Amino acid sequence: TGHTTLDYGFVNTSATKSAITFIDGDQGILRYRGYPIEQLAENSTYLEVAWLLIYGELPTETELAEFDERIRHHTLLHEDLKRFFSSLPYTAHPMSVLSSATAALSTYYEDSFDPSNPEHVELNTIRLLAKLPVIAAYAHKKSVGQAFLYPDNSLSFVDNFLKLNFGVLSELYEINPVMSRALERLLILHEDHEQNASTSTVRLVGSTGANQFSSISAGINALYGPLHGGANEAVLNMLAQIRESGESVQRFVERVKNKEDGVKLMGFGHRVYKNYDPRAKLVKESADEVLRELGVHDPLLDLAKELEEIALEDDYFQERRLYPNVDFYTGVIYKAMGFPTRMFTVLFAIGRLPGWLAHWREMQSDPQTKIGRPQQLYVGAPERNYPGIG
Ligand code: CMC
Repeated sequence: TGHTTLDYGFVNTSATKSAITFIDGDQGILRYRGYPIEQLAENSTYLEVAWLLIYGELPTETELAEFDERIRHHTLLHEDLKRFFSSLPYTAHPMSVLSSATAALSTYYEDSFDPSNPEHVELNTIRLLAKLPVIAAYAHKKSVGQAFLYPDNSLSFVDNFLKLNFGVLSELYEINPVMSRALERLLILHEDHEQNASTSTVRLVGSTGANQFSSISAGINALYGPLHGGANEAVLNMLAQIRESGESVQRFVERVKNKEDGVKLMGFGHRVYKNYDPRAKLVKESADEVLRELGVHDPLLDLAKELEEIALEDDYFQERRLYPNVDFYTGVIYKAMGFPTRMFTVLFAIGRLPGWLAHWREMQSDPQTKIGRPQQLYVGAPERNYPGIG
């Protein structure tokens, strides 16, 4: 059109106004609806923060209790949908299982997923919050060849999720409060991060008028990539490879700096943070505490700390202002809890779900919203006549 701006990766383009999350990347500040992430992580719960993100204010005790109760009433999956899992190979990556089952979930609610109907939007917000953790746990159970459990709605949101993942049929499941609190904290830290790639995807898909299930499923697919949520899995694989190969940390960092085979220090760097990611700070503190309390010693945590120390003192990382991001230390904690590496990004997705829902709803209710449709600068052939194939 002649007057567009070329902005690869949307580095300088705001696609929307938003009142949900504030980030100051230079100072390392993150706030949900004005509340510092540190205070929420310390004192709040996953569902309380979900309410805050979605409805804009902290809930009263009654509001939170009703919200929790409504979610408990929607945890069951249709028995037919449970059979969907058996058509996939047990080696399927749980992120692919999660996104496809979320898309499939929409087929059960075609009579009640109209984005312009506020009652439908409310109902599907609850359905997604209730059912995605169950789908996530079934993706886990499938990958280890164990039977699916029914949700236990006498338990809190997080304990129910842990039981669905680690409970075994016919055995009494014992709640581990250290694990519950640690997971709750990690989920809170992941709940929103303004216009990141997956949230922007949810908004873009939603801007076409697509329903919440389709939009969230697209967000899960965007999160899967190793530059985004997939980084938590990639970090653990990186640490394990360094350890197994016997390569020194210094040598590995050299390879990163020389960009040998495109190798990156996974869990480092961020588009917005040019300072220590405030979430990474909290996760690092948690890692020590949780591993100690669970009685786990993992040499990969020592290796991660050594990597961080060497990188932070190195010119390459200093000049580019590369610091550990949220994904650097989470994997070590998830591993200590007993989650397989391939479940790590699924846990990120469950964490991010309230943010996706809040953004989808904000987009939907903003009268200025238009279908998302970027411009391009055309650099192809000028007009030419079709010569026929000769
Ligand atoms: N290791 C080595 N070099 C890096 C890294 C890294 N992790 N991150 C950035 N750089 C270099 C990059 O090569 C470039 O160098 P040069 O100027 O010589 O070409 C410079 O730093 C600027 O990086 P960029 O790629 O232009 O930055 P970006 O804002 O486009 O990308 C990022 C941000 C997060 C994709 C990138 O830092 C990265 O790939 N990190 C590793 C993957 C990762 O940990 N992702 C999780 C992000 S946080 C949570 C989430 O979103 O899931």
